[in-house]
Amino acid sequence: MFPASFKWLFVSSFVVRVVSQTPFDPLQHSGPASPYFDAPSREGISSNTPSGCTVDQAAYILRHGSRYPEPGSFQGWQTLFTKFQNATYTARGPLRFIPSWTPPIDDEPHQPLFLSSTGAKEAFELGVELRNLYGFTKGGDNFTVWAAAQQRVFDTASYFLRGYLSQGNYLNNPQLNRGSIISLPDSVNDTFANSLTPSSSCPTYNAGNTGSITSDLFRSTYQDGIARRLNKFLVGLTLTASDIGIMQDLCGFSAEINGDTRFCDIFEEEEWLDYEYAHDLNYYYGSGPGNPLSATTGFPWVQEIARLFVGGPNISQVDKSGNLIPPPLIMGFTHDNNLPPVLSALGLWNTSATSPLSLTTPNSRRSFRSSYVVAFRGYIALEKLTCERELLSDEPAVHTSNVLGSLGSGNDHNETQLGSFVRVRVDKAPVTIPGCNSGPGSSCPIDDFMTHLERRGVIAGDFVERCGLQGVKDATSLVTFLTTQPPPNSIQLVGI
Ligand SMILES: *[C@@H]1O[C@H](CO)[C@@H](O)[C@H](O)[C@H]1NC(C)=O
Ligand SMILES: *[C@@H]1O[C@H](CO)[C@@H](O)[C@H](O)[C@H]1NC(C)=O
Ligand SMILES: *[C@@H]1O[C@H](CO)[C@@H](O)[C@H](O)[C@H]1NC(C)=O
Ligand SMILES: *[C@@H]1O[C@H](CO)[C@@H](O)[C@H](O)[C@H]1NC(C)=O
Ligand SMILES: *[C@@H]1O[C@H](CO)[C@@H](O)[C@H](O)[C@H]1NC(C)=O
Ligand SMILES: *[C@@H]1O[C@H](CO)[C@@H](O)[C@H](O)[C@H]1NC(C)=O
Repeated sequence: MFPASFKWLFVSSFVVRVVSQTPFDPLQHSGPASPYFDAPSREGISSNTPSGCTVDQAAYILRHGSRYPEPGSFQGWQTLFTKFQNATYTARGPLRFIPSWTPPIDDEPHQPLFLSSTGAKEAFELGVELRNLYGFTKGGDNFTVWAAAQQRVFDTASYFLRGYLSQGNYLNNPQLNRGSIISLPDSVNDTFANSLTPSSSCPTYNAGNTGSITSDLFRSTYQDGIARRLNKFLVGLTLTASDIGIMQDLCGFSAEINGDTRFCDIFEEEEWLDYEYAHDLNYYYGSGPGNPLSATTGFPWVQEIARLFVGGPNISQVDKSGNLIPPPLIMGFTHDNNLPPVLSALGLWNTSATSPLSLTTPNSRRSFRSSYVVAFRGYIALEKLTCERELLSDEPAVHTSNVLGSLGSGNDHNETQLGSFVRVRVDKAPVTIPGCNSGPGSSCPIDDFMTHLERRGVIAGDFVERCGLQGVKDATSLVTFLTTQPPPNSIQLVGI
């Protein structure tokens, strides 16, 4: 893997390194404070559906869209503002704006905690993107999604549905509802594996969580240096390490809240890479592969999606009545910390060459990058592909009267089915499953995917057992909410 900002050109026997035109963008290195962006392809694989293949089922687990700060962070912004105001000083160069800076909150009762308009846009755009990409939901059909209960998560699902369903003249007729959101209980400890926030129901989970300790230690190695550099632009005011932490957060947040990128401009590339690495440590050791309970909490969702993929889009029609039929596009809206467990369950981004992450020295070739998964509206998608032999480039497509053709209908009408494959995409970029990439677009043949999951299941262990829930009433290691009729009061209709 090469750093994202370089391209390599192979010119006869010379290797020429070309500095790409794209300048360094701190908004793509701000971890969970980054507004959504498509992660770069790091394995040289196109994010397009491989030719000859169609996606017949897909499952997404995603973080809510861009939001205002949590109340605790907002307090930090206010403290910084008070510090900037309650002193007489001169500020030069990149810090000249701080005497006139105000925190980007102008409706305090309704903003902190909640989605910003950028977050609404990110959700709407994903709805449009996935409708066009998969073509699953016929015009006029209903569509159901699942969301963890918190308002900003629910609102992300709602804006997603608007994007997904906004075709035709339905907006004028809200009683013809076509969008439904099933709201799942959030942060309670009696849903066990069966929710989109399973770590909240795993009592042993925090014992393995050393995320904030490792990230705080790493921050203490670079924040003082940044403060010293910036203090040269100030006379009469002294920035401290903790001010630096808040000011770096304000790059991503201000950019998505009101388009102000002045905090992005005051730090240097190395300082952003350190800031990003502190986030990487927090997620890797907190909710990612460095927490021994991470795979345990992520595995039940992955296992259920695999079961639905093997059963095919019609699986629930095989069951007797009373069950819910999940749509071919299965959307789960949740929080940042519920994404790394899915990577852990699948065994991704943890290759032995670059893991576990060093507590002191970032490896620029590491695969684990928080900015590429837990940016706002970040997602992990599993796609089930059905692939046919591709037409050769000089082979004509042949049509027989009144028979709808197919991608592989060549001259001899041998429609060679290649079979079914699973592909993983994280913030759009395909990620190969270690040891399983022989399919089109480096996808994994579905039988091999199931074998891979059996091995991962051993590493993940049983949810009830490893979370210390043996003997607890109703404790379950299974995700069943996707196929179970929810209580009526948990279904909300989006009138479009
Ligand atoms: C403002 O500054 C004065 C003196 O410089 C200090 O005594 C006071 O505590 C400060 N107030 C706040 C809210 O920081
Ligand atoms: C769509 O859902 C609404 C509300 O649940 C229901 O009244 C309607 O019949 C459904 N339409 C279709 C086509 O299934
Ligand atoms: C979690 O479950 C235990 C035992 O069932 C209960 O005593 C406790 O109050 C619950 N905690 C929360 C935060 O709901
Ligand atoms: C990630 O890799 C480390 C070391 O290579 C290993 O100890 C850990 O168990 C792995 N995590 C998962 C979830 O596979
Ligand atoms: C799935 O169900 C639909 C609608 O009932 C049907 O048209 C389609 O042929 C079924 N597909 C398979 C693979 O059974
Ligand atoms: C098409 O199928 C027939 C019979 O299954 C086989 O004999 C023939 O070789 C195939 N042709 C190609 C081009 O694959």
